[in-house]
Parts: sequence; structure tokens; C-alpha cells
Amino acid sequence: MFKVFSTLIWVAVATAKENGMALTPPMGWRSWNLYGENVNQELIETIMDGMVNRGRTVDGTATSLCDLGYCDVGLDDNWQKCGSYGEKKYTFHTDDGIPVVNTEIFPDMKSMTDKAHSLGLTAGWYGNNCICAEKFTDEDKFYEGDVKALIDFGFDGVKLDGCGSQLNLELYDELINATGKAITMENCHWGSAPPFEPTLDWCPWNFFRTSGDVRAAYGSVMENLATTYKYADTLLSRPGCWAYPDMLEIGCDHGPGGDSDSGLNEQESRSHFGSWCIISSPLTLSMDVNNATIMDSVWDLIANPEAIEVNQAWFGHPGGPYLSSSENVTLEYDNFVAPSHQYLYKPMSWDGSKVAVLIMNSENDEKSFDVKFDDIPGFKGGKGVKVRCVWGRKDVGQFDDVLDGVDVEAHDARFFVLEAAE
Ligand SMILES: *[C@@H]1O[C@H](CO)[C@@H](O)[C@H](O)[C@H]1NC(C)=O
Ligand SMILES: *[C@@H]1O[C@H](CO)[C@@H](O)[C@H](O)[C@H]1NC(C)=O
Ligand SMILES: *[C@@H]1O[C@H](CO)[C@@H](O)[C@H](O)[C@H]1NC(C)=O
Repeated sequence: MFKVFSTLIWVAVATAKENGMALTPPMGWRSWNLYGENVNQELIETIMDGMVNRGRTVDGTATSLCDLGYCDVGLDDNWQKCGSYGEKKYTFHTDDGIPVVNTEIFPDMKSMTDKAHSLGLTAGWYGNNCICAEKFTDEDKFYEGDVKALIDFGFDGVKLDGCGSQLNLELYDELINATGKAITMENCHWGSAPPFEPTLDWCPWNFFRTSGDVRAAYGSVMENLATTYKYADTLLSRPGCWAYPDMLEIGCDHGPGGDSDSGLNEQESRSHFGSWCIISSPLTLSMDVNNATIMDSVWDLIANPEAIEVNQAWFGHPGGPYLSSSENVTLEYDNFVAPSHQYLYKPMSWDGSKVAVLIMNSENDEKSFDVKFDDIPGFKGGKGVKVRCVWGRKDVGQFDDVLDGVDVEAHDARFFVLEAAE
């Protein structure tokens, strides 16, 4: 059996953005799925309060979302004042390239980021907007104006969308770098080809979207997940440069414009969160963190410290599928064709003694699966492998060569950490 020792390859060749940010997958919240274009400063500040609210517990300890690592609160589109500025009729920049804020809904960006910082949070901005996108291609002044505003307003990160003509992410990177402030940069170009995907020695952003917008439907979640796979074994997803299949739809009934979305049931939510964790995706919540009904229903999932630990680990490989069924199933959203079941893994040690495994069942009925240790790339396996259930947060027992008879409900995922005997 061929074992993959990608660790050594990674150490030798892959480099990422050198701003020291996103060395583990960034965690936080962003506004689009909840508010869409109906966003304002008060709503964002209320979300900030929700991120540090210790009204729930983990293992009996009062814990906030930020205590768990979800500490960034990001704006999305529609903070700008759409209009017609200067001779060339720019849509939201002045003649000098300064972005114009809609101060009716965002009266004071700086006080908003100050509030984030006073709560121990970071604040994320949003650029190259889709709503009233700026279409002039030859104007470096927009990049300069955007970066000046980013720093003046006190933001710590920025999501750079793909709708306007400020498409030069390397230029953004250079200008941001020259300010001397490390800024977490999201490349939101929906999985486009170069120059919007990294190479092994080039990555001027900290994480990159691999797909279109995710929706609150199992088929959409599976479709977006699959777009990350080509960045796994190639190691193009790595510290400081993570592949990102979009925000989490957990706790969202639907996204903006997505009233028809089916939403995710409990099983589908587990598959969504577990798969984003095991492929080292940034974890961006997008539900109403102040809604007790929603928070009660998702808390045990998004606050599971062992799932988050898998997400944040780095042992030379970002995680991805190692076995997929040859049978397929057509899922409702987009008629996306997914393997009926898949096994994903992520190394949890450098020496092959520990690995996380996620078994996903995309069929419409419960199935039983075997995890053969020899199938898992790089894993020592053998006799006496200790198996821990991540969802249940308990030890399952010790197994020789195979963990057999794992029942997985329809659209559900079972999540384990396996540890080989000494
Ligand atoms: C700017 O870039 C250099 C070279 O990549 C890097 O060493 C430095 O940390 C960067 N500074 C910031 C603030 O990102
Ligand atoms: C909280 O979420 C539930 C479930 O989505 C919804 O029915 C309810 O209206 C929400 N409450 C508020 C105050 O938004
Ligand atoms: C399932 O889908 C894959 C990928 O599109 C394809 O290669 C494979 O032939 C399909 N399997 C069957 C049984 O149709």
C-alpha cells in the first residue's frame, strides 16, 4: 500500500503570504448570508456583542464564540454609498479614489472597529464590491484609496470580491504590505483560474474562495466542498493560503435571495461542519448569533472543541478525500452529482500515528461503513488503534486493522480521530 508523505514535500517547496496571518484557518462571522444588502453598523455591533456572549457552556465552562476562536466579525457588501462621483461618474469612489461610505447606515466605521477591538475581536472589511461595482480598469488610485480607508478605519482584514475592476490582488497585497499593518486578505474570486488561484511559491492572499456562493442546501454544500479537493493533495491549500468553499450555512434557513433554499437538517449540518473542519477551511459563521433558538440548535456542533482542533491542526496536509464510491447520487440543489459516500482524512501528527477521518453518506438512507486503516494515506494503523468519536466526544474503543460497522444516517457524517498503538 502506497503511503503519502506529503509533509516533506510541503516543507521543501510551498510558501505562502508572509504577513504572518492565517497560519491556521481563520474563524469568525460575516454578514452576507444573514443580512444581505440590508446591513448597518448597529446590526454589526450587535453581532459583535453576540460573539463574546458567554451565555453557553463547553464542558461546564461559560464560553463565547470568540473563546472558541471565532473572533473576526466581517462586513460584506453594501456599506458604500452608490452614486455618481467626479467627471468619470465613478460609482462609489471620489475623484481621488477614496471609497464613499453610506454614513446613514455606517455613521462611524472607526468606532465600529474600536468596539470590536475593545471586545477582543477583529473587524473585517469588504472591497471590490458587487453592488454598484466600480468598472474603471486603469485606475490605481482606487486600490490606494481602498487601502488607505482600510487602515484609517482600523480594519484587520478584508474580503476582496470579484465584481468590480480592482482585480489585481498582488497590487492590493503590495499596498497593504507597505502600510506596515498585517491584514488578513480573502481572495473572493469564486474558484477562477490563475491569477486567482495560488501556486506553490505564490499566494498574495491568506485564503481563497474555490467556488460560487454556498446556499443553505445539502447539494450546494457538497458541490462547494468538492471544489476544494484539487487543492488538497497538491498542497495548494496550506498555512497562510487556505482553500475556502465559502461561509458556513449552519443555522441559516436561507441565504440572501435564497428563500427557496431547503435549509440544512441536523444531519446535513454535521456533514457541513465536519467537512469544513477536516479540509482546513476557514470557519465563517453567518447565522444570527443572538437568536437563542438558532444558537441552541447549533451550539453543540459549532462549539465542539475536538472538531475545531482538527480544523486548526497542521501536519503537512490540509485534508481531503481518500476514498470515494464509484456510485453517484444526484442531489437536489443544482442536480449536483456527488459520490454516494466518501471518506475524508487529515493527518493529526507528523509521524503517521494519528489521523482524523470523516465518513459522509450522501444517500437518502442509512448505510454501514468500514474504515480500513490501511486505506488511510500515511496512517500507521495496525492493531490496537484507539478510536475517538469527535461528535460524541468519547472513546469508542480499540480496533485491529478496521473500524467496522459504522452506521451513518442519510446525509450525515461520522467523525473520528484514530490513534495507532505505540
Ligand atoms: C511585507 O512583506 C514582507 C516580505 O514578504 C514580509 O516579510 C513582511 O512581514 C510583510 N509585512 C506585513 C506587514 O505584512
Ligand atoms: C430566531 O430563529 C427562529 C428560527 O429560525 C425564527 O423562527 C425566529 O423568528 C427568530 N427570532 C428572531 C427574534 O429573529
Ligand atoms: C460518478 O461520477 C464520477 C465523476 O463524475 C464518474 O467518473 C463516474 O463514472 C460516475 N460513476 C458512475 C457509476 O456513473
